[in-house]
Amino acid sequence: MRGEEKIYIGDIAGFDGKEVRLGCWLANRRSSGKIQFLTLRDGSCYIQSVVSRGEVSAEVWENASRLTLESSFLVRGKVKRDSRAPGGFELELIDLEVVQIAEDYPISPKEHGTAFLLDHRHLWLRSRRQHAALRIRHEVISATRRFFDDRDFILTDTPIFTPNACEGTSTLFETRYFDETAYLSQSGQLYNEAIAMSMGRTYCFGPTFRAEKSKTRRHLIEFWMVEPEVAFAKLEDAIILGEDLVCAVVESVVENRREELKVLERDISKLESVKKPFVRMTYDQAVEFLRGKGHSIEWGGDFGAQDETALGDAHDRPVVVTHYPSEVKAFYMEPDPERPEVALCVDFLAPEGYGELIGGGQRIHDLELLRRRIREHELSEDAFSWYLDLRRYGSVPHSGFGMGIERLVAWLCKLEHLREAIAFPRMLYRLSP
Ligand code: 4AD
Ligand code: MG
Repeated sequence: MRGEEKIYIGDIAGFDGKEVRLGCWLANRRSSGKIQFLTLRDGSCYIQSVVSRGEVSAEVWENASRLTLESSFLVRGKVKRDSRAPGGFELELIDLEVVQIAEDYPISPKEHGTAFLLDHRHLWLRSRRQHAALRIRHEVISATRRFFDDRDFILTDTPIFTPNACEGTSTLFETRYFDETAYLSQSGQLYNEAIAMSMGRTYCFGPTFRAEKSKTRRHLIEFWMVEPEVAFAKLEDAIILGEDLVCAVVESVVENRREELKVLERDISKLESVKKPFVRMTYDQAVEFLRGKGHSIEWGGDFGAQDETALGDAHDRPVVVTHYPSEVKAFYMEPDPERPEVALCVDFLAPEGYGELIGGGQRIHDLELLRRRIREHELSEDAFSWYLDLRRYGSVPHSGFGMGIERLVAWLCKLEHLREAIAFPRMLYRLSP
């Protein structure tokens, strides 16, 4: 198709009264005799296009009539401001060239079961809600990167194949690495610590893998995590960094993705209240709070999903829980010098039932203590010898955390399950598409 400038629907406001060309798919249609209303989508946005029998050639009318759901085509039309139209503009269709007439599209506006939708994830991604959630995911990632870049954190990525376990051995994915055994990374943290000793402030952002053997709506097998690590930093510094990060990301989503939040019917006021300072409590206080709510919980145990929900739900912004018992946390956690049975660690628990958004804390920087912990956790001292080196050569207190991107996206979008926060979720019993 020749003629006017090819644009995206998202930019249509700049073309009021002008003729434009679009490449699009048919998202919906309605007709009333002499008029067809086509809902076009082009990836950026949606617009309604009006085809009037009296105004277009017989061929164009016929082509428009042939379009099935998800058929692809090129159009030329005139942009018209219309306050009644969703999005505020309509396109008066002038010309239409079919690229492909789609076969019977399997996903219709009617309710489909989750298994069916997940089997058709490659097509389900075109639906409005999925489209909106993934655009918000993009915003979360770009705001996160902007946040660290603006603070002069150096982005360094960490390996996926590793010889070490970072977050306990029970969720390790084992694979062959020529003649050796390797594990898929559970976290970039250990490498990040080495990089922090070189760069001062660093972050990594990449896929991480956990063989989570239980089916929950908060766990994926493959998820993306952003992990900052800072030299000469204590627990308190990590908490402040986490608060600032969450606030910056939420603000950016509320500001730049309002339309998408509306599509998801998200109550935006719940996000607008996410401001510093966050409420803080120690593990001890959290246990007391939970007992007060009737949860039966022994001091020393980790919180379950329901405990985290109750803690997070008590506030209109994430709650910051510190000083968990060292027993339930990873081997590298610095003990509280005043009370060595608890760790200088922190979890950020989201409101509205989304659980832990951030986990991190201060790392052990003393060589002997770290060596002892590696032994106590029955990890291989050999595999960790390079990590111990960091405590041999200019060791300093350092801190950091990991923030799960899908957890954050799921909460911001109020998704029912983490699987909709990533394009192609890897879950227990699901490896395809
Ligand atoms: O609390 P976690 O296990 O912490 C670490 O991995 C640290 N090494 C990070 C660090 O200090 N650099 O995981 C961090 C975050 C959790 O708070 C959660 O948001 C997310 O990663 N997460 C998951 N997200 C989706 N599916 C899973 N199976 C997840 N496990 C953890
Ligand atoms: Mg954790």
